[in-house]
Parts: sequence; structure tokens; C-alpha cells
Amino acid sequence: MKNKKRALITGINGQDGSYLAEYLLSKDYEVFGTLKRNSVVENQTSRLNNIFENVNLEYADLTDMSSLTRLIKQVKPTEIYNLGAQSHVKISFDQPIYTTNTIVFGTLNLLESIRLFDTNIRLYQASSSEMFGNSIDGDGFQRESTPMYPVSPYGCAKLFGYNIIRNYRHSYKLFLSNGILFNHESPRRGLNFVTNKVVNEAVKIKLNLSNVLELGNLQATRDWGHAKDYVEAMHLILNHDKPDDFVCATGVSHSVQDLVDYTFNKLDMDPKSYIKINKKYLRPEELSHLKGDSTKIRSELGWKPNYTFETMLDDMIEARLKLYK
Ligand code: NAP
Ligand code: GDD
Repeated sequence: MKNKKRALITGINGQDGSYLAEYLLSKDYEVFGTLKRNSVVENQTSRLNNIFENVNLEYADLTDMSSLTRLIKQVKPTEIYNLGAQSHVKISFDQPIYTTNTIVFGTLNLLESIRLFDTNIRLYQASSSEMFGNSIDGDGFQRESTPMYPVSPYGCAKLFGYNIIRNYRHSYKLFLSNGILFNHESPRRGLNFVTNKVVNEAVKIKLNLSNVLELGNLQATRDWGHAKDYVEAMHLILNHDKPDDFVCATGVSHSVQDLVDYTFNKLDMDPKSYIKINKKYLRPEELSHLKGDSTKIRSELGWKPNYTFETMLDDMIEARLKLYK
């Protein structure tokens, strides 16, 4: 009998980690994942409720290399998906050092563990469109060749992660790949990211549970896709015949105002009566526009998204309505 592939996912209880774990189980992988110690254990694994019995959860922290080397020796993974991070851009301005520790030293701790203990492991690195900052090609898109000038501590840390992956790949001939993923959302998105914040508050307003939605920059545009589509890209990237870096995006961009309008209209409400601008949601430096060209992953690996901006939001609205009702 053929041995099953073993995947280790850092940040398995996050949005992407939970979808990726489900996807890899459907592909007959044995799935292991890291949990960070938290004083409140209730809800920590709520995103894994569907598959809790089928995954192996282990305490580890990206900032603690000993916990990672222990896991690598114990689990003997064939693939590692490094999804763990302090992933909120605005919070990265409030906690720049912790954010950097999780991303920069977290990635290096994993790379050193692989280099020292098992050079056959393949590693996927969760790189981000936030690394581009406000740099845009002449045609309005960002792609693999677009220069990267990040505008947040999170983006700067992710750029280090991206570069050190490339450096270790070239220096030590390891199978290390970056997915440069644009924003992706789902009903499991944290409520302090703009899509699920808007959806959640709009649904509460609809059900008379709230009467105001406070937001920051409504003009910013993002290339929003569905997390379910993007975890499939992660798996394709790591199962390619060579390590490489890929942009993953829908190629369609919308403003935060478009997001608000679509969500409120879907619920038969006029957003103008409820939206209030609160400066506390602005960032010290804003990333204004993101729109990704993912021609490379589409042509080389055959990836394409199934969800549009609208069907992604429909899925999120439906899930919230179901929850409150
Ligand atoms: P998420 O929901 O915030 O999940 C992040 C995960 O990382 C959580 O499980 C979190 O655990 C864990 N984590 C945080 N600090 C850690 C540490 N020190 N050690 C170990 N684990 C730690 O983020 P996501 O949306 O799933 O994103 C997954 C990855 O992709 C992140 O690296 C993110 O930066 C990157 N990314 C996301 C997007 C996007 O649009 N979603 C786009 C590009 C790149 P706790 O919940 O217990 O804190
Ligand atoms: N969070 C939030 N809250 N954002 C707001 C708000 C608000 O009240 N009002 C306006 N925005 C704007 C932000 O200024 C930003 O321009 C946009 O909405 C999206 O914000 P987020 O949903 O917080 O996502 P992000 O683009 O900053 O970061 C996400 O995408 C990155 C990839 O580009 C995160 O998932 C990162 O981890 C990821 O790397």
C-alpha cells in the first residue's frame, strides 16, 4: 500500500488553514496542524468543527524554533504549509515587533528546521499582495515581476519571508515556493477584516440588532476572491514539478464602497443611512489599489477561481443570515 502524504499546516485553525485541511483530507492526506497556546480554549478550533476528529493538532508557536523542530521530527511531513502569522495589516502598526517575529523569525525557524533535519520537505510560504504596496504596473495590474515596496510592517515582514524563501531555495536547492495571494475571504473570515465586518454588521442592521456601521477608507480597492479557491492554488503550487513563485488573484478589483453597496442592496437596504466614517480604521500609510494578474498560475498549473466577487459575498451573507436566524 502506498504511504499517504503528510501535510503539516502552521495556523491550521485560521481561515485558510481550516479550508486547506479539508481540501487535503479530501485528497487523502494525513493532516497535522499547529495550535498556539491561548488562555481561552473554547472556540479556538471552531473553524475545524467539520473535521476535528480527522486532523492531528499539536501545540507549537512559530516564534519557538524548538517547537517546530520537535514537530518536524515527530510528524515527518512531506509538505509544510506555512500559513501562521499575525495577519491583520492595521494591527501590524500597533504590534510591529510581534507581527515581524511571527512572519520573519517564524519563516526562518521553519527554514532552518528543514535545512538541518529534513531537506526533502516541500514548503509553501503564504506570501501576500500586501508586499507590492502602492507599486502598480502601467496596465493597472500587479504580477510576479512588479517591484515590491510594502507600506505596512506586515507587508515589510512578508517581503522578508518571500525573499528568504527564494534565497534558501537557490542556496540549498530546497523545494520552497511562494504563493503571492491577493485578498481572499469566506464565511470563516475574521470579523475585523473589512468584508466580513461589512457583511456581519449589514445582516445585524437588517435584523434590527444594530443601526450603524463604522468604517475607514471606502476608496481603497482590492482584488477579492474566495478562500476555497485559493487553498487549491496552494496545493497546486507545492505539487508542481519545480519550486517557483506564483501570483494568485481573480483579476477583478472593487472598492470598499462597492462592497458596502453590494451587501446592503442584497439585503434591500440603503447603506447611506447607516455608514459612519471613523478615523480609527485608517492606516498610517494606506495601500490604495490591488488588482492581480495571475496568468502564470493559470497557464502553468491550470488554476482558476470558481467564485466571483458577487458569489463570494452571497456565500458570506447567506452564512451570516443563517447564523443569526
Ligand atoms: P488568519 O485567519 O489570521 O490565520 C492565521 C493563523 O496563524 C491562525 O491560525 C493563528 O492562530 C496563527 N498564528 C498567529 N500567530 C502565530 C504564531 N506565532 N505561531 C503559530 N501560529 C500563529 O489568516 P488567513 O486569512 O487564514 O491567512 C493565512 C496566511 O496567509 C497568513 O500568513 C496571511 O498573512 C496570509 N495571507 C492571507 C491572505 C488573505 O487574504 N486571507 C492573503 C495573502 C496572504 P490564532 O488564531 O490562534 O492566533
Ligand atoms: N479591516 C478593515 N476595517 N479595513 C477597512 C475598514 C475597516 O473598518 N474600513 C475600510 N477598510 C479598508 C482597509 O483600509 C483596506 O484598504 C481594505 O479595507 C481591506 O482591509 P482588510 O480587510 O483589513 O484587508 P487588507 O487588504 O488590509 O489585508 C488582507 O489582505 C492581504 C492581501 O492583500 C489580509 O488578509 C492580509 O493578511 C493579506 O496579506
